[in-house]
Amino acid sequence: MALLAPIIMDNGTGFSKIGFAGNSDPSFVFPTAIATRESASASTRAAQPSGRGPPIPSKSSHLASKRGIEDLDFHIGDEAMANSKTYGIHYPIRHGMIDNWDHMERYWEQSIFKYLRAEPEDHYFLLTEPPLNPPENRENTAEIFFESFNIQGLYIAVQAVLALAASWSSNKVVDRTLTGTVVDSGDGVTHVIPCAEGYVIGSAIKHIPIAGRDITSFVQTLLRERGETTVIPPEDQLKIAQKVKEDYSYVCQDIVREFRKYDVDPLNYFKRMEGEHSVTGRKYTIDVGYERFLAPEIFFNPEIASSDFLTPLPEVVDNVIQQSPIDVRRGLYKNIVLSGGSTMFEHFGQRLKRDLKQIVDRRIEASEVSSGALMRSTGVEVNVISHKRQRYAVWFGGSLLASLPDFYQHCHTKADYEEVGPSICRRYAIFGSVN
Ligand SMILES: Nc1ncnc2c1ncn2[C@@H]1O[C@H](COP(=O)(O)OP(=O)(O)OP(=O)(O)O)[C@@H](O)[C@H]1O
Ligand SMILES: [Mg+2]
Repeated sequence: MALLAPIIMDNGTGFSKIGFAGNSDPSFVFPTAIATRESASASTRAAQPSGRGPPIPSKSSHLASKRGIEDLDFHIGDEAMANSKTYGIHYPIRHGMIDNWDHMERYWEQSIFKYLRAEPEDHYFLLTEPPLNPPENRENTAEIFFESFNIQGLYIAVQAVLALAASWSSNKVVDRTLTGTVVDSGDGVTHVIPCAEGYVIGSAIKHIPIAGRDITSFVQTLLRERGETTVIPPEDQLKIAQKVKEDYSYVCQDIVREFRKYDVDPLNYFKRMEGEHSVTGRKYTIDVGYERFLAPEIFFNPEIASSDFLTPLPEVVDNVIQQSPIDVRRGLYKNIVLSGGSTMFEHFGQRLKRDLKQIVDRRIEASEVSSGALMRSTGVEVNVISHKRQRYAVWFGGSLLASLPDFYQHCHTKADYEEVGPSICRRYAIFGSVN
């Protein structure tokens, strides 16, 4: 039988990206949410603790064939959200990790049959995992895909490594390297992940508790403070804040100067945005102002929104690289790769590069001074790579790797799985780079 294109699934905390290898965009992007008849509280109790303790549920509980017919009454993605009044909504992934296996299996099942309209037994699958995913989670995943879905072969890749592969599509990238620092900012969390030759340097990874959701709620606060929310119906406020963030916001070079520009020339900088009441259809207009540049500024000056987390992103990136082995640091500064929806603000990469370069140059200067100028540094190259496929970088990296001829050699096949069992998925080999 001829092989069909491998299926690529990147299931994120907020959104799942699914489609076929070789394409430049996922075929479907929809919320990682499932609506079931059970109440939301019952499912929270059933949820597995993420990353701690044994996450494996009893084996038979997640085999589709053993489920009763009542279990077919569920919706996923946008349909799940639309049924939130009569069904309980659950989010099977928390902070990037699967935390309810039964919900996740049902979510995958509909993703494959109803969205992709594919027969899983005809395909190889490439799935993604967050950094430091416990090996038990890989085993659980393998068990579901091989036993419930009967797939031909499986490769589970670390999201950061896929994001590095995705950046090969940028015309600034000259060699296909898997050494670099990935700044992946999605809906729930921002990770800074150093990788050397395709392997994550786990001890140096850092998480930042600022991501898309936090920025949206910050925009909502700013709109409220400026009095704009008086015209927005309460149930639409979150949606409007998200639209302001996604469609109107950008990273500025200097907030004080930016405020001044708005005050001197408001007609040029304030924008009018139209909204429509989600129930009555009534139209209304709001002014979009300072939140345009303040929204993403929380990455660079986190104190403007919170008092819990105060380290600016460029400093976090610098700390991550400084905590990595000395022989890879140059490679990590030279190839900082952006990935995920919350890195999509205009000028985000430029600002990160500028602020990080300042930190690095200051350190070099200080060490030259302390050595009495005996040691002159040749400087450190800092590069931040933005590219066209950044929004769905992880998915696109998967699509790219799974279209390389040696992909199949690196997958675990159904025969391998049957011979060794789920533990086979603890092993995996890196491929694709050419240095
Ligand atoms: N153009 C844009 N500008 C700013 N933010 C955007 C833009 N487009 C999407 N986003 C935001 O990106 C977030 C979703 O990103 P992404 O799909 O990478 O997250 P995820 O993979 O579901 O989550 P995580 O990586 O945290 O598990 C949402 O908060 C969305 O509002
Ligand atoms: Mg993601």
